[in-house]
Amino acid sequence: MNIKPRYSILFVCLGNICRSPLAESVFRTKAQLAGFSFLVDSAGIINQHVGERPDKRALKLGEDNGYSFRNFHARQVREGDFSRFDYILAMDNETLKSLKSLSPIQYQSKLYLFLDFAGDTTNKNIPDPYFGDSSDFKKTLSAIEQGVDLLIEKLKEENN
Ligand code: 4NP
Repeated sequence: MNIKPRYSILFVCLGNICRSPLAESVFRTKAQLAGFSFLVDSAGIINQHVGERPDKRALKLGEDNGYSFRNFHARQVREGDFSRFDYILAMDNETLKSLKSLSPIQYQSKLYLFLDFAGDTTNKNIPDPYFGDSSDFKKTLSAIEQGVDLLIEKLKEENN
């Protein structure tokens, strides 16, 4: 029997090598701990890094903090994502704009800014660390962890 996961979430950033793979892995870890049944994946807007493993800096920081990237290879957003996932969460406003222009009209309501959707009232964008240094990657991971904690609380409340 095919049991539909309760949550299906796609995290999206520009390249799918830094922010959205971190968000995918952090969500997978924390959602498992919360006992959720879920499908989670991530994708990028551009095709430049398709097939690559996560950026070395993101990979090392993520693994040092207990997150796994086993089997991860970057991919680009594709048409089928818009019907497949319940929530498509953009890491920043630029990514959200791109998703809005790619998505068929009937799926526009699935598109959100990740932190908005999670209920963060102060921060909007997960900062892009790609051109930064290790402290930028740390800030990014910490923002993602906080966002995922809020997201999980929100999903728990919705099901109470
Ligand atoms: P990401 O970071 O969107 O968090 O994966 C970036 C990755 C690649 C590029 C920019 C941001 N790039 O310009 O190639």
